[in-house]
Amino acid sequence: MLSKKMEKALNGQVNAELYSSYLYLSMAANFTAQNWVGAAKWMRVQAGEEFKHAMRFYDFILACNSKVVLDPIAKPPTQWPTLLAAFEAAYAHEQKVTGLINGLVELAEDEKDHASEAFLQWFVNEQVEEEANALHIVQQLRLIGDSKGSLFMLDHQLGKRAE
Ligand SMILES: [Fe+2]
Ligand SMILES: [Fe+2]
Repeated sequence: MLSKKMEKALNGQVNAELYSSYLYLSMAANFTAQNWVGAAKWMRVQAGEEFKHAMRFYDFILACNSKVVLDPIAKPPTQWPTLLAAFEAAYAHEQKVTGLINGLVELAEDEKDHASEAFLQWFVNEQVEEEANALHIVQQLRLIGDSKGSLFMLDHQLGKRAE
């Protein structure tokens, strides 16, 4: 069983991952409204990934014979003026989540909770990927600047992301 402190912290991460899913779904809706069909697809797939992250924490808490508590999910922003602004926000968000995961690892270490520590390693690695993916798109958008043709090509590429 998890300590009360660890249980609370892991439930907090269920909420944080659900918020990530909500944030990216909001970006997907915003991109669709702006006719960035490919970017919308990319964010919709990302929202699904974040839901799966939430479920990993959910399943782990239950497997530890501890209690899942679902708190309200905060309302995400609804508008980003450009693709660049949205992906910059996504990158900043992933950096924040990396900080949350590192905080959980430190708590697990303090509590000598080896099971939680081992479980969290998957997320430590995942966050490296998550940050790299978002930053790569930010960098591509910065290179492209205002070139409409290149933006449409990138949008097309983003739309190829598999479910
Ligand atoms: Fe996540
Ligand atoms: Fe993420």
